[in-house]
Amino acid sequence: MSVQALLTSWIQAQKLRAPQMKNASIFERNLEEALDLRRANHGLFAPNVINSWKTGQGVDFCSNDILHLGVTGQIREEFEAELARHPGYNVHSGGARLLDGNYEYIQQIEQEIADFHGAESALIVSTGYDANGTIFGALPRPGDAIVYDELIHASIFDGMVHSVAPCKQSFRHNDCDSFREVLTSVIDSQKMIRDGSRCVLVAVESVYSMDGDVCPLRELVDIGKELCPKGNIEFIIDEAHGTGVIGPKGAGLVNALGMEKEIAVRLHTCGKGLASIGAAILGSATVRSVLLNYARPVVFTTAPSFPLVAAMRAGYNLLRSGATEKAQANIQHLVKRFIGRMRADETFQKASEMGIVWIPLSEDMEERDFLVHVIPIRTRQRYSYWLTFHLQLAGYCIFPIDYPVVPKGKSRVRLIVHGSNTEAQIDGIAKAICDWSREMIEIETSVDSGSKMPKSAQQVYALMAEAST
Ligand SMILES: Cc1ncc(COP(=O)(O)O)c(C=O)c1O
Repeated sequence: MSVQALLTSWIQAQKLRAPQMKNASIFERNLEEALDLRRANHGLFAPNVINSWKTGQGVDFCSNDILHLGVTGQIREEFEAELARHPGYNVHSGGARLLDGNYEYIQQIEQEIADFHGAESALIVSTGYDANGTIFGALPRPGDAIVYDELIHASIFDGMVHSVAPCKQSFRHNDCDSFREVLTSVIDSQKMIRDGSRCVLVAVESVYSMDGDVCPLRELVDIGKELCPKGNIEFIIDEAHGTGVIGPKGAGLVNALGMEKEIAVRLHTCGKGLASIGAAILGSATVRSVLLNYARPVVFTTAPSFPLVAAMRAGYNLLRSGATEKAQANIQHLVKRFIGRMRADETFQKASEMGIVWIPLSEDMEERDFLVHVIPIRTRQRYSYWLTFHLQLAGYCIFPIDYPVVPKGKSRVRLIVHGSNTEAQIDGIAKAICDWSREMIEIETSVDSGSKMPKSAQQVYALMAEAST
């Protein structure tokens, strides 16, 4: 299927359906009404629509295969080698972890992962989503308070729903002053926190995947120590988007900052940087034991079986051996190159001043210790679709991100730079964005700007009209 056809089918999928369903069952109509809420904002997606890089028609600037261990086949090779080292392996685990589901291999790999990250112990679970349910459902005790960054991942919010901690307060994203303010008010209002008999648990991520910024972990921990001198504050960090990508051999932010002893709980997921599956929760032996005994997603499920654990080990083998360091370095180089190109382009700068398209965080690039693979290209809502059409038709596979994934009014196109992307691809997409910016400036400064559309959007809407006649 051509990119044009894929885009057309996606746009067609946005046509409202419920109004035409008068004779359908109430159940089906109500469900279509729910889907129509998404269609009304051009936000209904079907699996695999417009993933042009998979068909060789586009460059991958969107997948979570950040190091490209999947695309290059490295993870498959390592996984097959791991399977070959264990002939006669079991596909099943045989039960819940505390019953029949425990086995030597999973314990060995858990310890290997813990050692790699400099943690005391690790617990493997099937997904990062489950991991956050596991952590937040089991670790907060009655009387504890949770203080969290307002932009934490949906799985942490869902995990917190099951937490018995009565007090949950958010602070402004990555804002140390707001953290200080919220923590102070939590301490003031909670007697058991003040007297040191209960804990404050702080939930953050290392790399925020929609904004491409990094948690000011050192600063937050220092504020926590200052305001809770009795030591009753602990941090829980989700390193899903840092795993494999930042820190020594991709060990993550905590390792990069040398804060292994200061962070109580870390979550590393393997579905992104490692092109694998599964997740590991790092913490003390006590944390692990509480999770095993109290976390409902662990207690009431079949334990992860050998193939999943072997897939995780394959990813960690690649990290440990240093095989991924080149990809890590290439991401740093390419992100720097891309931002440099955009900063040097006068048209893009003008479009940024006009509020047409801009890249937050690009100004202070030199001050940062390391860059991350996520670059949000901010636009207005309708423009994020137009920019997507332009880039897709130019051969770059990239997606718009909109409400409810990000707050209303924060539309963006998200560029993800990968381990095996090339300088030519980076220069190409930078040029394509600048070309689109030029076209949009011309449209916005023309007399009849309200009725004009960029060429790529015209092309896609024309194809759609053609397809529906
Ligand atoms: C920050 C964060 N945590 C957890 C998850 C869930 O991880 P998994 O895909 O392994 O379920 C994601 C995935 O999008 C994530 O971005």
